[in-house]
Amino acid sequence: MGIPPSPEISLVLSVRDLVVEVGATRIVNGVSFQVHAGEKVGLVGRNGAGKTTLLRVLGGAKSPKGGVVKRAPATGYLSQDPRQDSVPDDTTVLHHVLAGRGLDELLDEVEKRRIALDELPSDENVHKYSNALERFEHAGGYAAEAEVRKLASGVGLREDRLDLPIGALSGGERRRAELVRILFGGSELLLLDEPTNHLDADARTWILKFLRDYRGALVVVSHDLDLLDEAITRVVYLDREAEEATGTVVEYKGTYSQYLVQRAADEERLGKLATRQDREIARLSQLASSMRGQTAKRAKVAKNLDGRVARIEASKVQAPTKRRSLRLRFPEPPSCGRTVLTATEIWKSFGALDVFSDVSFDVGRGERLLVMGLNGAGKTTLLRVLAGVLEPDLGEVQFGTGVSTGYYAQEHEGIVGGRSLLEHMREVSSLGDGGLRELIGMFGLSGDKAFQDASTLSGGEKTKLALAQLVAGSHNVLLLDEPTNNLDPGSRVATGEALASWPGTMVIVSHDAEFVRALEPDRALLMPDGTLDMFRDEMYELLELA
Ligand SMILES: Nc1ncnc2c1ncn2[C@@H]1O[C@H](COP(=O)(O)OP(=O)(O)OP(=O)(O)O)[C@@H](O)[C@H]1O
Ligand SMILES: [Mg+2]
Repeated sequence: MGIPPSPEISLVLSVRDLVVEVGATRIVNGVSFQVHAGEKVGLVGRNGAGKTTLLRVLGGAKSPKGGVVKRAPATGYLSQDPRQDSVPDDTTVLHHVLAGRGLDELLDEVEKRRIALDELPSDENVHKYSNALERFEHAGGYAAEAEVRKLASGVGLREDRLDLPIGALSGGERRRAELVRILFGGSELLLLDEPTNHLDADARTWILKFLRDYRGALVVVSHDLDLLDEAITRVVYLDREAEEATGTVVEYKGTYSQYLVQRAADEERLGKLATRQDREIARLSQLASSMRGQTAKRAKVAKNLDGRVARIEASKVQAPTKRRSLRLRFPEPPSCGRTVLTATEIWKSFGALDVFSDVSFDVGRGERLLVMGLNGAGKTTLLRVLAGVLEPDLGEVQFGTGVSTGYYAQEHEGIVGGRSLLEHMREVSSLGDGGLRELIGMFGLSGDKAFQDASTLSGGEKTKLALAQLVAGSHNVLLLDEPTNNLDPGSRVATGEALASWPGTMVIVSHDAEFVRALEPDRALLMPDGTLDMFRDEMYELLELA
């Protein structure tokens, strides 16, 4: 007769009385929740709510201020910005991935023995080398390598990247490498922070399917509505509306869409209850006042009423504050010539790799040009060349008269540590501190946030600061590389609308179909060939599929 499994056994994550702080802010104060084997949980909340911070604590990358986190021994954690993880830059990608199953040391041994053998081909060295090989093989090393290559191709990491040192990867590639490592590690519990950021549609589709089929448990932070609807079965909402507020955690069963409906209902119910309580308090207090200072009997009634008021106050619910969605406006672009930009036979390679060759096109005033192509097709490289961050190897880029370009970099490379938000704004505009603070305030970064070290901002807050810099620069040409990554759904819509109604010129890279739809591009530039075409509706499908 078997012993029935204890409920403890199927728990892969258990959090009790958790207190999490960042800077001077208490993100949560005493929350508890559990995740069972196979459960798929979406952790949601506005930009800056503290999701990344909370996930880091769950994954063990940060210690809590109080409370207990118990997690399954095999837990894979993907951070929002792996560039900030402490992995030596000269570790090769393959090595780093194999470390996910502890195979890296065996591989090191093989490499060490091979070098020794090259130097001195003695019998002893031959023997040691073949022993090392055998151990590697025995531990499944060769099979593992094949598996790694398959995973890499799934997430769209080029195979040759596996043999490069980690430091040589772009931010997007680094994320993919990290994903491969975690997927390869084969954990019971995956903690993923915005896993679909920076992925093209192909790789994103692959991840969505992977997560849907995944048998282990999952806690995922994401603003990707498809992911939240397809891959999860429960929502944990980190409710921390105000900057200084301490958050609470509210749990909902079902997908994200179901959660939105339930939350709206919850908020309405709470709002009504709060109004009712307010009215009752006002009514009783007024009655009490009218009874005071008269007969002793009346004074007693008044005191009684005061007691009732106090009791209601004690159990009073907070009406949900409607978070004001961002109201963004980009300033009128300064005037400029009819042709804003001409690229002539530009060519860019890194070492032996031609990213693109012989690309020519021009962009007219007010035009919206969408740059399309798979991961690694050179979209970001092209934008960096147009922005003047990179020199083309051949060819040239010319700008029309009066053109001022603003560049939104995919990886926030313009945001540096040790400088505040305000200092970042001062670099791009002479507007004066009051005006600059108002501008970042428009993006929801208000109050003392202006003085925070910009490198400590959350992913979405960095996006907002970079967008605020663009607005402050009063440009007439914007080069936008995935500007909606990291943004919470409300902010994404607001950004899309603000840009859609802006009459300036835009060159855009984006995999966000909804955002692209709002912008209504005029033409498409297909990379790496540099073929120009009118933008047609079929291309939306391409955007979503390819
Ligand atoms: N060192 C620090 N000093 C002050 N505030 C900080 C510091 N580090 C982080 N913060 C703030 O803590 C808050 C929570 O950040 P976190 O990265 O957890 O947010 P998030 O919910 O993941 O947001 P996003 O959706 O944008 O990724 C943010 O407002 C951030 O600016
Ligand atoms: Mg985050």
